[in-house]
Amino acid sequence: MAIENRMETMAPSRENAGSKIARHATVLSGQLQQLRTRMYPPKSEKMLRQFLTNEVSKLTSIPDSTLKLMSSEGRGPVPSRLENNHRVYTLAQINELRELFAKQKPSEALRFLPRRRQNEHLQVLAIANFKGGSAKTTTCVHLAHYLALHGYRVLALDLDPQASLSAMFGAQPEIDVGANETIYAALRYDATERRPIREIIRKTYFDGIDLIPGNLEVMEYEHETPRVLAQKSGTGAIFFERLKLALAEVEADYDIVILDTPPSLGFLTLSAIYAATSMIITVHPAMLDVASMSQFLLMMGDLINVLNESGAQLDQDFIRYLVTRHDPNDAPQSQVVAMLRHLFGADVLLPTAIESTAVEAAGLAKRSLYELEMGQIGRDTHKRAREAVDAVNESIVQLINASWGRG
Ligand SMILES: Nc1ncnc2c1ncn2[C@@H]1O[C@H](COP(=O)(O)OP(=O)(O)OP(=O)(O)O)[C@@H](O)[C@H]1O
Ligand SMILES: [Mg+2]
Repeated sequence: MAIENRMETMAPSRENAGSKIARHATVLSGQLQQLRTRMYPPKSEKMLRQFLTNEVSKLTSIPDSTLKLMSSEGRGPVPSRLENNHRVYTLAQINELRELFAKQKPSEALRFLPRRRQNEHLQVLAIANFKGGSAKTTTCVHLAHYLALHGYRVLALDLDPQASLSAMFGAQPEIDVGANETIYAALRYDATERRPIREIIRKTYFDGIDLIPGNLEVMEYEHETPRVLAQKSGTGAIFFERLKLALAEVEADYDIVILDTPPSLGFLTLSAIYAATSMIITVHPAMLDVASMSQFLLMMGDLINVLNESGAQLDQDFIRYLVTRHDPNDAPQSQVVAMLRHLFGADVLLPTAIESTAVEAAGLAKRSLYELEMGQIGRDTHKRAREAVDAVNESIVQLINASWGRG
């Protein structure tokens, strides 16, 4: 710790609670900033790894042999070579291959390029639960990466002032996200400062995923909304419609919007639920978490009724519970999972997000399992975790496809 910081921690002889907390906040945030800079230097731009031919084949359903033949005949994107001469492709090149094959085989185009068609509506998926740490953000990141790797166009929207989703995409909330650069800019009530949503969308290092980052600024919406409601001031639509209307402006650019919500049931979460065409409620299978989710559901039910009374139409394609950080060998957890399945039946997704040191370690490095190369974490651990996450994502994609009327 810097000497100046240590000096600041020495309290003046009489100090009131407000100035003490403010002082602690300053020294702590200074210290955290230093630690973060050391562990994750601000200049360390995130980059996505490249993919081996067998991975590309799995992702695109283009046979290995075809890829190799194309590359040796000089057709299609030119892969780089690793030291051992293996071919590797960037995600942008994988997407080029998709376009190529969809064009060549129009009757199978959907298999190569699964983007939504004109008669299929934008899917807005909210990941919610006010229980902190129920793996909302981890679920969002893995789903976004999975979708982009499979050729979908994704918008990831961070509605949480903690901004962990933004951090996972390399946008550090205190450093990289300035004033009026979060979703608040598109929702705010003062027309002079409000910005079109398109202006605050950023490209990410992950081909196919755009981001609207968050930081503390999004809290302004929680403070402003009750004031505007009480004074009947502000311009534009009522609070719960604003997010939905903003998203409609960029509808044509995406297949799926993923909303990462804060661990609270405020105006932002409510706006997310209203804008959403589907919802995943993440739940860690422990009694306390389930009790907390029960409160969440009760409150959400009440709030949705209030919205309905003010003329809102909530009509979602699907709502599912996802069991997260699941340890299948833990007997009490198994009882909770059994209870949830008994109560909610098919509304609980069959695959569960297995608790894994691989997910945790990847998270610390601000990565998803999809970004790790085999060998970065114990091979078996990585493989098991990856299979579990794939199964969860695949079941969500099936629901999305069903909402589009695809068989
Ligand atoms: N399957 C898993 N295995 C191991 N650790 C996990 C798993 N899923 C999530 N975690 C870890 O649990 C912690 C909480 O996860 P996450 O941040 O996704 O939760 P959250 O619901 O978004 O939290 P918050 O309510 O604060 O937004 C993180 O440290 C994350 O790495
Ligand atoms: Mg989170």
